Amino acid sequence: MRTSFTLLAGACLVLFACEKPAEKKETPPSPSASTSAAAPIATTPPPPTGEGKTVELHVTAQATTMAFDPTTLTVPAGATVHLTLENKKPGALPHNWALVMPGTEAKLAADGLAMGEAASYIAKGPDLLAYTELVKPGTTGEVTFKAPPPGKYPYICTFPGHYMVMKGVLTVAP
Ligand code: CU
Repeated sequence: MRTSFTLLAGACLVLFACEKPAEKKETPPSPSASTSAAAPIATTPPPPTGEGKTVELHVTAQATTMAFDPTTLTVPAGATVHLTLENKKPGALPHNWALVMPGTEAKLAADGLAMGEAASYIAKGPDLLAYTELVKPGTTGEVTFKAPPPGKYPYICTFPGHYMVMKGVLTVAP
């Protein structure tokens, strides 16, 4: 049984390999087709562009406008991200920086509120990707995390009432 299965599998592979060039002749060559034809069938995907890299990001919390600066950030997939959050003076309120799954901003803000100030208004869970603790005015907080898979992820301040205005988008490039 084992032998016949192996033979069958081998026959399929040969068949597959034989079909490929024939297909290629019929269709005009395109960059994607030639790349996939050249690559062996069982290759693992290449590592993300940011693998092994560390990216430094600096975000300020602006109390006067109640906003993050910048409101857009970009990192390569697989990178290690070191982010510092500077709570700019003048300002009286603490702020934090939380990277969350798209669409979970309101829920995480509400859950964070329920956790209270001692927990930095942070509710941990699968939708929370990275966060700093509450950062007092005139001070800086930080967080190090691995960039999530390519996509766009919102970041918010979960201090009560802030998430709707203190927000931005982190883009993870493939
Ligand atoms: Cu805030």
